[in-house]
Amino acid sequence: MFSIEKLQQSFEQSLATLNISGDPKELYEPINYILSLGGKRMRPVLLMAGCDLFGGQISKAILPALGIEIFHNFSLMHDDIMDNSPIRRSKPTVHVKWDANTAILSGDAMLVEAYNMMMQVDDDLLRPILSVFSSAATRVCEGQQMDMVFEKKIVSIDDYINMISLKTAVLLAASLKIGGMIARANNDDIDHLAEFGLNLGIAFQLQDDILDVYGDKSKFGKQVGGDIIANKKTYLLLKAFELADDQTRQSLNLWMEKKDFVAEEKVASITTIFNSLNIKELAEKEMQSFHEKAMESMRAINQADDRKEILISLADSLMKREI
Ligand code: IPE
Ligand code: IPE
Ligand code: MG
Ligand code: MG
Ligand code: MG
Repeated sequence: MFSIEKLQQSFEQSLATLNISGDPKELYEPINYILSLGGKRMRPVLLMAGCDLFGGQISKAILPALGIEIFHNFSLMHDDIMDNSPIRRSKPTVHVKWDANTAILSGDAMLVEAYNMMMQVDDDLLRPILSVFSSAATRVCEGQQMDMVFEKKIVSIDDYINMISLKTAVLLAASLKIGGMIARANNDDIDHLAEFGLNLGIAFQLQDDILDVYGDKSKFGKQVGGDIIANKKTYLLLKAFELADDQTRQSLNLWMEKKDFVAEEKVASITTIFNSLNIKELAEKEMQSFHEKAMESMRAINQADDRKEILISLADSLMKREI
């Protein structure tokens, strides 16, 4: 069994040996830039820990883990264009530092590289693993499109949960599933592990949405208030609409409709409304309930409790994170 730190460390080591370079340098520089900015490396660690849970060989999980992280970083590079985000991991986003066309094309090259890495599995697992990966990738696109469609309308909280399951949680589930497949775990256990990842991913995105409003600027590494500025239909905003009296709802609507506004004023006004309705606490409760669901799925996995501890403590730490 490997600790989270050990898994992170061996992942960072293999990432450091990765040589993504070539001509023209304008294509490759942004790739190395985003990959070198760090991040939690949660998805590759989940993949490796999922493999380790069932006694699989970590050496066989490393390249697919790189594939998952490269895919994730590709999705961030494009997401930052879509969300008009200026900062990622406390540094300028690729489309700001270079331009949008560069971010699109470097992102495309990363998607291809992610497949190259993901292909490095035993021959008999090649089709099954690529199929899990491709289907997750398609779900991420669906979720990302819903996220943008929802900027223009009010949706139900169920719609929101469905959207974040697609854009975020499905990739956590796929990471764990691929890890379990590499370890050749049985199908029932793999299904429970994927269910754990899905619920953990929903809790994770709820936390991301909470941090987007309430995060500490100096730690979060992204623009605080970005979701409010972009009219993102997060749990926080949808819950506020649900609980608001007529006057407050009208004020929320006015802010949503405004085309010209001072960003700080919009963020401050909507945050004040959230505070008056106790939205942060409600969102945290919702997050905890998905975390608890994840734990239920973990309990259903047929493995000794001490083997499960690593994933359980990783899940716990994600619920308390500040970045
Ligand atoms: C950011 O993912 C995108 C979301 C799904 C919220 P992470 O929070 O895992 O980003 P990094 O990789 O740690 O920077
Ligand atoms: C998008 O969620 C996650 C992806 C699928 C890339 P967000 O748009 O909330 O992610 P951040 O906050 O920019 O990291
Ligand atoms: Mg987004
Ligand atoms: Mg974003
Ligand atoms: Mg976010």
